[in-house]
Amino acid sequence: MIKKLAFATATVLGLSSGAAFAAGAAGHVEDFDFSFEGPFGTYDQNQLQRGLQIYTEVCSACHGLKFVPIRSLSEDGGPSMPEDQVRAYAENYEVFDAELDDFRPAKPADHFPGSALENAPDLSLMAKARAGFHGPYGLGINQFFKGIGGPEYIASLLTGYTGKEKEEAGVILYENTAYPGGYIAMAPPLYDEQVEFADGHENDMHHLAEDVSAFLMWTAEPKMMARKQAGFAGVLFLTILSVLLYLTNKRIWAPVKGKKSG
Ligand code: HEC
Repeated sequence: MIKKLAFATATVLGLSSGAAFAAGAAGHVEDFDFSFEGPFGTYDQNQLQRGLQIYTEVCSACHGLKFVPIRSLSEDGGPSMPEDQVRAYAENYEVFDAELDDFRPAKPADHFPGSALENAPDLSLMAKARAGFHGPYGLGINQFFKGIGGPEYIASLLTGYTGKEKEEAGVILYENTAYPGGYIAMAPPLYDEQVEFADGHENDMHHLAEDVSAFLMWTAEPKMMARKQAGFAGVLFLTILSVLLYLTNKRIWAPVKGKKSG
């Protein structure tokens, strides 16, 4: 019996150390301070607009955002662009119209196109598909305060190139400290001062990576702010309700308890 128990314990310990190793091989994710972290965090509208610009000028050459309606760019809580700007922006893209049986310029009601490059994944939900160091493991406290770390992962990926390359089966792979496995088929997409902002905002690679990652968090969770507000209202409501119930309870039992002590 004891032998059996010891064996079972050893197996469990063995398994867990294996899991720890697997987590270690997942790549290094750096911490970034995003405005939307924490229970009261909100998206920074200007940052989302810069992120959109970076996505448009750089990432959209290969990656799509096929689950994101273009009109959501004007919604509250997002980049909140004026509607005429969104209409003009939509016209940058061509979509296939089944009715016309031809391509036409996109309208705000259309979605962003899918990926232009076959092996480049769609980025709409990437920030939620990839968890960084905050989870999805553990007690959930970190996730509650900081989110699951998806945007940190993307920003770490974009800034994690070491400059080393290797060729495998005719494909060039680039060494990257954040990418699980260490080598990714995406060439370093960002460099310093690649994108110029109208307001002259900082545009070194680090800032660009942060801005585009924030934008991708928004595409993955456009209603985050509304969700947090609803959550906060819920907590407030429950707190007030608890206080009222406590007072009611005291009052109801006051005659009984009063007798006992007196
Ligand atoms: C020249 C084409 C190209 C450009 C430009 C490009 N990517 Fe990629 N990206 C790829 C390819 C190809 C992959 C798949 C890599 C692989 O599977 O090894 C990829 C993968 C990714 C991934 C997924 C990594 C993972 O964990 O699987 C993310 C995130 C990403 N790109 C973000 C971006 C962002 C953000 C930009 C713009 C700043 C960008 N990419 C620009 C080609 C590109």
